Amino acid sequence: TRLNVAPVPPDEIFALNHAFGIDTHPQKVSLGVGVYRTDDGKPWPLPVVQKAEKELEAASDAFRHEYTAIEGDAPFLPMARDLMFGFEGKPSEEEAKARIATVQTVAGTGANHLGALFLAHHMKPRTVWLSNPSWANHMTIWELAGIPRKTYPYYHASTRAFDFDGMMSSLENDAEEGDVVLLHACAHNPTGLDPNKEQWIAIAELCERKKLFPFFDSAYQGFASGSVEEDAWAVRYFFTAKPDMEMCVAQSFSKNFGLYGDRVGAFHYVTNRASSSLRDVVVNNLCHLIRGEFSMGPRAGTAIVKKVLSDEALVKEWHADLKVMSSRIRSMREALYAELVRLQTPGTWEHIVQQNGMFSYTGLTLKQVYALKDQYHIYLLKSGRASISGLSKKNVAYVAQAIDDVVRN
Ligand code: LMR
Repeated sequence: TRLNVAPVPPDEIFALNHAFGIDTHPQKVSLGVGVYRTDDGKPWPLPVVQKAEKELEAASDAFRHEYTAIEGDAPFLPMARDLMFGFEGKPSEEEAKARIATVQTVAGTGANHLGALFLAHHMKPRTVWLSNPSWANHMTIWELAGIPRKTYPYYHASTRAFDFDGMMSSLENDAEEGDVVLLHACAHNPTGLDPNKEQWIAIAELCERKKLFPFFDSAYQGFASGSVEEDAWAVRYFFTAKPDMEMCVAQSFSKNFGLYGDRVGAFHYVTNRASSSLRDVVVNNLCHLIRGEFSMGPRAGTAIVKKVLSDEALVKEWHADLKVMSSRIRSMREALYAELVRLQTPGTWEHIVQQNGMFSYTGLTLKQVYALKDQYHIYLLKSGRASISGLSKKNVAYVAQAIDDVVRN
C-alpha cells in the first residue's frame, strides 16, 4: 500500500497570520486573525486572568496536572453552562438544567467538531445549513464529520446588510425536517451582522415549525456588546421559549477570556425534556467520542476560567475587561469610518460602524485586498473581512489612506 495524499489549501486565516509574522515592513498591519490587540498592537492578557493565574500559582495545588474526568473538569461544567444559559441558582431552574448535557471541549473548534460528530453518529442529518458566508472552519468541521453542507443567504452585498428575507425563504423552502441549521449566537463571523430580537424570534419559530435543529456557535459572549447577557440573548430565548425543541451550543472562551492558545470550551446538548437520565446518556455518549479522540479537555485554561467565575469580585473585573475590549474595538470602527469620510473615499462606509463584534465585512474586492497587502503591508482576508482590533490610533490614518488609494485606483 502507498500513501495517497494530495495537498489541501492551507487555512487562510493562519497562513495570513504567518505571512504577517514574517513581514519585516515597519508599518505592517494585521487585520487578519480574530485576536484582540491593544492600541500598541500587542496581545492583552486580561488583567483578571493574570490575577487568577497568580492566585493559582500561589496555591500550587498538587493535583493541578492530574487527569480530570472524560467529560471535563467537574466544577467548570456547570459554570460554563450557567454563563451560557443564564441560571441564577433558583430552585425552579433545576428542571431546566436537567435538559442540558455539558462536556468540556478543546475550545470552540473542538466544541463545533464534537457536536458535528455527535449529530453525525446519533441523528444522521441529511444536511447542515451554514450561513453564506460563514467562518471557513465550519465548512471543514462538517466536511470531516461527513455531513453534506448547504448554505442559506445571509449577506446582501449591495446593501451590505443582513439578508433576513433570503435566509428565511431559503430555510422555509429548501430545508427539510431534521436538517441542522448553524447559527452564530452573536457577532457573526465574518459579517459582523446579527439578527435583531424580532428576527431571532422568527428564526426560532421557523426551526420549531419545520423541525430543524439549531446549532449555535457562541464564540464572542460578552466580547461583542460588552454584556454577557446581551450576547447570550438568542441562545437563552431559544432555550426558554422553545422547551420542546432540541438544540446545541458550542461555547468558546478564547476571545472573551483572551485564552486563545489554552483551548477552553464547552459543548452543550439541550434535550427536549427535563430528564436527568436522558441527559446522562447524552453525556455518556459524548464521553465515548471524547475518549476516542482526545481523552479529556485540557486543564490549565479551565482552572483560570473557574477561578474567575467562582468569585463575584473577579466576575466584576472580568466584565470590566470585556468592556475595555469591546469599547476599544467600537472606537476603532468609528475612527476608521471618520477617516474614510474625511478623505471622501468613494463608496459608503456606514456599515463599518453598524457591524458588531470583532470583524468588519468591508466590502473591499479581492483585487483591493491584494493591493492592500502588496503595496501597504495591510493584511485582511480575501473576502474583505477585517479584524478591527488590529487598528490603533497610530495606524488608523495609514489604513484609511491605503483603503482610499486602493478604492480609487
Ligand atoms: C478568526 O475567525 O479569525 C478566529 O476565530 C480565529 C480562528 O480560529 O479562525
